[in-house]
Amino acid sequence: SLKIAIIGGGSSYTPEILEGFIQRQATFPVTEIVLVDVKAGEEKVDTICQLGNRMIAEAGVNIQLTWTLDRRSALQGADFVSTQIRVGGLAARAHDERIPLKHGLIGQETNGAGGIMKAFRTIPVLMEIAEEMQELCPDAWMINFTNPAGIVTEALLNHSVHKKVIGVCNIPFNMRHSTAELLQAAPEDVLIRFIGLNHFIFGDKVYVKGEDRTADVFQKLLQKELDYNPANIMPLDWSETFIKAVRLLPNPYHQYYFQTPSVLEKDKQAYQENGTRAEVVQALEESLFALYKQESLRKKPEELEQRGGAFYSQVACQLMDSIYNHKEDIQTVNTWNHGAIPELPYDAVIEANCVITKQGPKPISIGEIPAPVRGMIQNMKAMEELVIKASISGEYEDAYNAFLVNPLVQDEKKAKLVLDELLEAHKDYLPQY
Ligand code: G6P
Ligand code: MN
Repeated sequence: SLKIAIIGGGSSYTPEILEGFIQRQATFPVTEIVLVDVKAGEEKVDTICQLGNRMIAEAGVNIQLTWTLDRRSALQGADFVSTQIRVGGLAARAHDERIPLKHGLIGQETNGAGGIMKAFRTIPVLMEIAEEMQELCPDAWMINFTNPAGIVTEALLNHSVHKKVIGVCNIPFNMRHSTAELLQAAPEDVLIRFIGLNHFIFGDKVYVKGEDRTADVFQKLLQKELDYNPANIMPLDWSETFIKAVRLLPNPYHQYYFQTPSVLEKDKQAYQENGTRAEVVQALEESLFALYKQESLRKKPEELEQRGGAFYSQVACQLMDSIYNHKEDIQTVNTWNHGAIPELPYDAVIEANCVITKQGPKPISIGEIPAPVRGMIQNMKAMEELVIKASISGEYEDAYNAFLVNPLVQDEKKAKLVLDELLEAHKDYLPQY
């Protein structure tokens, strides 16, 4: 029997992960799930809990599902803890998106100035949770979805007492699944060799049952037949020259870095027409919760797929299942580099293919980073280190350095302007500043 605590259980995504646990009962016997949220999320978490209990009844499984605002009681004796919180809610996200754009910079919740600010708000809270875990459930694994997931995971692994932390994202999962569909193969037979960091990951080789199918995949990418864009990012459009020269599968977030002016142009227009992504998601959430409240709804609704993080639960459940059952299968997660990429610090967190064991993920050696992106990946990692330093120190100069070296800021005067404005907008959620 297993106990799961879901921190941020009032999220509209939660029915997905509940469905995952319900479906995996045979191999992953969850008997107790506690949803945790903060006071402001009380109504939402109650709605989710009621829907969850209808789903459980419908499936005829034996899971005790409850909710609480008392995080400590939920953590007590937990085996796995999923963290999926948004400090400051969608209102805070809207600032991260709008303020940089006002200064002509990319406004995105995990990249650029907005992403750094999200780390500043999130890391102190996650550190607190990690400390409580060490006290109340020291053997439990934290499966962290909270963005920026790679940075948050590195902060926890290197600066908190609790070391059983794994960061996850649906992007590598989406890339693997879309590629499998395209090649008419089963996802578990497809292996993409991934290199890089969360939301900055590339694929350089694709194998199906050990057979190298990379050339076919690039061909399909050129023909625009490969699509693994999440709902929150406008479709990719990579030039033939880029694909042929770089020879790497980009992830959807790369367009912020390699097509900055066109994304800025698109975003400016989109923000004017529909509001920022935070505002679009706000409306989506309202209709999702109206749906969740209907007594007749007894399963996860398809409408949830309009969220960018759709399928995150498969990533989470698959990972927990493989740890619990010591499956030693390969999954792509955020964990310590430990030499897999010698050109990055040993204790840096990378997003890598790992063998998943009872003792946690073991990264598979990657070797040298392909030359066209080596400098950028190293620069991103150096930036992430500065973000973590500033998240903990609360020193203005540290924060400024992180902004300055971020490739989506890189302007000494704008760095200060945007930093100052974001610090002011988020001051209620930045105890360290
Ligand atoms: C992607 C990312 C997630 C992110 C999500 C945003 O899938 O991998 O890390 O949270 O998109 O989706 P949203 O619907 O909130 O814009
Ligand atoms: Mn992600």
